Amino acid sequence: MPAAILADGLVKSFGDVHALRGVSFEVPTGTVLGVLGPNGAGKTTAVRILTTLLRADAGRAEVLGIDVAKSPATVRASIGLAGQNAAVDENLTGRENLQLVGRLTHMPRAAIATRTDELLERFALADADTRLVRHYSGGMRRRLDLAAALVHRPPVLFLDEPTTGLDPQARRAVWEVIRTLKSEGRSVMLTTHYLEEAEELADKVAIMDKGKIITSGTPNEIIARYGNVERDSLEDVFVKLVGKEVGAKAE
Ligand SMILES: Nc1ncnc2c1ncn2[C@@H]1O[C@H](COP(=O)(O)OP(=O)(O)O)[C@@H](O)[C@H]1O
Ligand SMILES: [Mg+2]
Repeated sequence: MPAAILADGLVKSFGDVHALRGVSFEVPTGTVLGVLGPNGAGKTTAVRILTTLLRADAGRAEVLGIDVAKSPATVRASIGLAGQNAAVDENLTGRENLQLVGRLTHMPRAAIATRTDELLERFALADADTRLVRHYSGGMRRRLDLAAALVHRPPVLFLDEPTTGLDPQARRAVWEVIRTLKSEGRSVMLTTHYLEEAEELADKVAIMDKGKIITSGTPNEIIARYGNVERDSLEDVFVKLVGKEVGAKAE
């Protein structure tokens, strides 16, 4: 069985900014990979390449064994993306946004209606479904964005800092969703600024900085590699490797 997500030697530059300098990783089916890195590390660039939104300069990106550059439409049908730059339309209601995703992914009309009701309920947006997204709070927007990524029940999900800026309660609600996705056998690439989030949710963690994956493995494997499992936390190792706190801005 091919990996759910495969990045092999991805390179991407924007002018003289080297966003990705040869990034490789794999997300086996049914697992969650947590990608940790400071701002500017290249996380979103990797996500955009894997979700067909951006072309790599070099390297190979595959979803379920399908090359994203060669068959973008096929890849799009099997992925969901919840991004930092929430993809929802401000001038539509929550319900309309979810229906739009259903139509774009060619779901039957009746299925769209049922699925929309279900997701609005599950993400505690049912009361707001007739309100324009423009009037949603940050937490509501983020929940809608996540719901929108799930409409067509994609087996592979890309969650790009889905909880950044959320209060602890809203963050926990998103964690529950990610746990459910995992229990349903879906595969997830999760980028995050929160170490505890990676430790809670991810089977494996990859630490990324300046366009490279510095290390990857289970949190304990990583700690053992660079520190002392008894004494150090993943955060200690992160600071040691990256030279700054996980949420800090890259130079
Ligand atoms: N469209 C773009 N044009 C120019 N530079 C970009 C663009 N997208 C990203 N970058 C740069 O690439 C680097 C990696 O960015 P990004 O992938 O967004 O990092 P992260 O998501 O880890 O914060 C940063 O230096 C960023 O400024
Ligand atoms: Mg980013």
